[in-house]
Amino acid sequence: MDSFELNKIIAAILMVALLIIGIGKISKIIFHVEKPKIPGYAVDVEEANQASTATVKSVEDKVDISALMAMGDATSGEKIFKKCAACHSIVKGGKNNIGPALYNVVGRQSGAISDYKYSKALAAHGKSWTLEELNGYLIKPAKWIKGTKMAFAGLRKEKDRASVIKYLNQNSDNPLPLP
Ligand code: HEC
Repeated sequence: MDSFELNKIIAAILMVALLIIGIGKISKIIFHVEKPKIPGYAVDVEEANQASTATVKSVEDKVDISALMAMGDATSGEKIFKKCAACHSIVKGGKNNIGPALYNVVGRQSGAISDYKYSKALAAHGKSWTLEELNGYLIKPAKWIKGTKMAFAGLRKEKDRASVIKYLNQNSDNPLPLP
């Protein structure tokens, strides 16, 4: 084999190598797809789910009830209770009205007044009215207990809820110790 032959062979090999590299490059250019940093849907859906449960969760688990209660005072609570008084009595021995009597309600089992006809939803709720439960219910009753017949929009302000809960707690034979 003379050097000319050898050159041809080397040239051929080089050509093939270049072609392979070239095709790779070209196909990359042609089929180039911008890869998102975070792959699309699966993550998005999960994040959306997390966000929607997060609001409920944050109230259920993470509410710092002592910090919340510290915002309120029973005197303001008494004023705020005027909104509730359209449907609820609060004095000892008070009667059921549109809503059940609320004396002693803090710490009481939900749906526990025997001569009051609760909605099915509240009757089945099966929790006691802890500070956290009351706070959750009073944010938006219809959302906390789906199917409740308490037709009350809710108290949006934390301070108002804390105050009214303190007032409820005062109107009790055994007020709960506040955190
Ligand atoms: C429009 C009337 C109405 C108003 C206003 C209202 N409630 Fe009620 N409430 C009801 C009714 C009706 C129920 C019974 C709900 C059911 O059975 O689902 C109820 C139930 C409750 C319960 C559960 C009691 C139990 O025995 O389990 C609490 C606690 C409560 N209300 C607190 C309040 C507070 C505090 C306010 C004011 C911030 C208020 N409600 C305003 C009608 C009302």
